[in-house]
Amino acid sequence: MIRILPLTIAERLDFYHQDHLLTGWDDLTPDQQAAFAAELETVDFDQLMDLLAQQKSHHSAEDETPAQRAYRAQPPSSLVRLPRTAAEQAEWKTAEQRGEDLLRAGKVGAILVAGGQGTRLGYDHPKGMYPLGPVSDAPLFQLLCEQLLARARRAGHTIPYYIMTSDATHDETVAFFQKHRFFGLPKADVYFFQQGNMPAADAQSGQLLLSDAGQLAMSPDGHGGLLQALSSSGMLENMQDRGVEYLYYHQVDNPLAIVCDPAYLGWHDLSGAEVSTKVIAKRSAAEKMGIAVDVDGVTQIIEYSDLPDEVAQRKTASGDLELWAGSTAIHVFSREFLERLAHGRWQLPFHIAHKAVPSYVPGEGLKTPEKPNAYKFERFIFDILPQASKALIVEADRTREFNPLKNADGVHSPDDVRRSLVNLHLGWAEEAGWEIPDATPVEISSLVALDAAEFAEQVGQQVQPEKTDRGWIWS
Ligand code: UTP
Repeated sequence: MIRILPLTIAERLDFYHQDHLLTGWDDLTPDQQAAFAAELETVDFDQLMDLLAQQKSHHSAEDETPAQRAYRAQPPSSLVRLPRTAAEQAEWKTAEQRGEDLLRAGKVGAILVAGGQGTRLGYDHPKGMYPLGPVSDAPLFQLLCEQLLARARRAGHTIPYYIMTSDATHDETVAFFQKHRFFGLPKADVYFFQQGNMPAADAQSGQLLLSDAGQLAMSPDGHGGLLQALSSSGMLENMQDRGVEYLYYHQVDNPLAIVCDPAYLGWHDLSGAEVSTKVIAKRSAAEKMGIAVDVDGVTQIIEYSDLPDEVAQRKTASGDLELWAGSTAIHVFSREFLERLAHGRWQLPFHIAHKAVPSYVPGEGLKTPEKPNAYKFERFIFDILPQASKALIVEADRTREFNPLKNADGVHSPDDVRRSLVNLHLGWAEEAGWEIPDATPVEISSLVALDAAEFAEQVGQQVQPEKTDRGWIWS
């Protein structure tokens, strides 16, 4: 007899060689069984099996690997460099004015991706809650929200903030915003929406892992989960209803990002790009950053793990790195571009990472492996660049705009990022004529000034900082 769909869960698991997941089923309570059954229903096993098969055949397939393609990488052709001459400064000024016009007309929204698990930092809460203000201890969320609020005030128009969370960060993030009254932003301008999850699979057997009895080991599906999440949460319609045409995209970990930077928005619009990416000069060939390049005339970002050493090391005749343009993960998207992709058939590819994932075995408990044991599947938002009719690369100054909080120690650690913030604000204070005693940390709230010129104009020598044991602060 021909079996009629739908298959039961047990049959599906058997079909995909995943019936180990039902070991221990009888020990679950009826509620746990119902929840587990519902979770298993959400898993796209066909997609997972395809991904695992691709991973296995990776080295033998005729398909070119990203690393092989990287050999043809050239510096990006559609590029705006930092201004070096008076003429270039005038062009940047024109771009800035264009961006200010867009902000004033209410055509700009901001997207913050805050769904990551922050494993390298090892902080027990969403990374946005991390206290990072060098003098104030303000959390990352506050540093970013206050920038947005100040930018909106300057523009004389609100800027909606679209904040992507995940199962790992959603509840705590929303509660934190409520507790802090949205850091001064109008509540009606802050939208939370959640990205999806992907299960982790044992690297040897392809069997999905459990995190507890009756629970799959799941993790957020990468910042590229944004595209799907924007569409399924109704945020794309919200943007359209609000008349938003340009989205400034940034990540929760970089407090130096110039949120809704007018010059950047202006360049994006004036050049007719559908997506733009800010880059900085890499410090060395070995620095672990994605790089913006052209391959076969198509502008794209190559992940650092896909860049062969000898390609990363290539130098120009003058001795500089040929592929120098490290991505800051700060983008501008045209809303219509996101809509076109979200409603079309094309999907962001998954990247597969080999990671140590704790796994629960019924009867044995939770085991934490010392070495990578599993594959995790993530989408990266920068993979949308080649889909754009035009992708623009815009150069930024590292000391001004880039030091993300990634690690517990060393580079991109809390101390390192605080140092960058202090150095930035020290420069603004000194430009305005302040003499700061040696080794005194300095912090300037975005609500006081967004840049050196505004600080000099608005504050100058008139407003005394609060002098605390931790340093000087203008807030
Ligand atoms: P990272 O790739 O640096 O990941 O995220 P992470 O979670 O912060 O840290 P590690 O790798 O586990 O140590 C860059 C940005 O993308 C967001 C993060 O919240 C951060 O703003 N992100 C990452 C998501 O929103 N969702 C994800 O699934 C992954």
